[in-house]
Amino acid sequence: MSETIFRQAVSAILGNENIYFYWKGRIALYALLKAMKIEKGDEVILPGYTCVVVPNAIKYLGAKPIYIDVEKTTMNPSIDHFFRAITPKTKAIITQNTFGLSTQVDEIAEMAKEKNIYSIEDCTHGFGGTFKGKPNGSYCDAAFFSTQWNKPFSTGIGGFATVNNVELLPELKKVNQSLVQPTIKDSMILSALLFARDNVLSPSNYWQLRSIYRWLSKNNLVIGSSEGKELNSVEIPKDYFKIMGNVQYKKGVKNISGIYQLLEKRKKNAELYTEFLSKEKKYHVEKELHKNHSFLKYPILVKERGVFENRAINAKIDLGDWFCTPLYPVEKNFKLWDLNLSDIPVANILSKQIVNLPADTEKPLKIIEFLKDNINEII
Ligand SMILES: Cc1ncc(COP(=O)(O)O)c(C=O)c1O
Repeated sequence: MSETIFRQAVSAILGNENIYFYWKGRIALYALLKAMKIEKGDEVILPGYTCVVVPNAIKYLGAKPIYIDVEKTTMNPSIDHFFRAITPKTKAIITQNTFGLSTQVDEIAEMAKEKNIYSIEDCTHGFGGTFKGKPNGSYCDAAFFSTQWNKPFSTGIGGFATVNNVELLPELKKVNQSLVQPTIKDSMILSALLFARDNVLSPSNYWQLRSIYRWLSKNNLVIGSSEGKELNSVEIPKDYFKIMGNVQYKKGVKNISGIYQLLEKRKKNAELYTEFLSKEKKYHVEKELHKNHSFLKYPILVKERGVFENRAINAKIDLGDWFCTPLYPVEKNFKLWDLNLSDIPVANILSKQIVNLPADTEKPLKIIEFLKDNINEII
């Protein structure tokens, strides 16, 4: 029942009826790649500025991730980056709406089609946003979304795939036959975490609980975003290929209804940040990019991240560190994922300088005051 209502709600926003739900967004990507018959010997092009679980899905199938650099202004690759990386072995490309911003998705999808290559849009940051007036996820052969804790709306953890190229559907349905159900333990832990987030978390205990949660999830003691094995190996974890469960469908039905209000708030806050930072002649998301941006996060660049973050904690400003490494959150052994840092010089520098401002805050002026007080630290 909840599944049907959730499906209808997602479908109404995306204008697409081909929706498939999974335990996490990364599993949706894995399913799509499998439906595209990606296998050993194939190459898949992706931004060298992403979450490590994206190349993991490629590696689990024995294929090779080919990383391309990004542009400083958009934090996304341009169509030329994709074009230059195509070889006879390229089977698919993955574009991404980094922090909610889509770049040249229409042209990238068109180019892939001309070259007989599959295209996938990583919309994990961009649900609810648009590119040239169409919902994110509309242009490529398929797209995948995340509903993990800090995503546009949350089911705790979770994700889904949408398919535009209907020729993929028979194979995807076949692939999905081997999905496993979440265990009772999975569902109980997730329910407990969701309960804690909705009922226990308050402004007075937020900072304490945040550090406890981070410690527990780093040590694999709760369902965090990633389990240890995903961060230090390229072997597929046991029972990885899991479908979404009832706890998530129910949460999805509840939380998706607030998506447009949230989007509006994020966009308004982002406008304030851009106005302030551009006046100060600091790095900012340029005004003309705002219309294709859903601002899950607002990226800025700083000289000394450690110093800046400590000052933020003291001022009780909740900064994000998303993409503080090219394969977030992995900090070393990039070779394991076939990443050569010299192939992605811009992404490498950005990863050293980035912090993210909260876009969904009720108090944007407090953030701007903090930026003013620390203006010399900002690039
Ligand atoms: C760019 C990107 N792609 C994919 C994912 C994976 O999403 P999920 O955590 O739902 O598997 C993330 C996670 O944050 C991400 O940032």
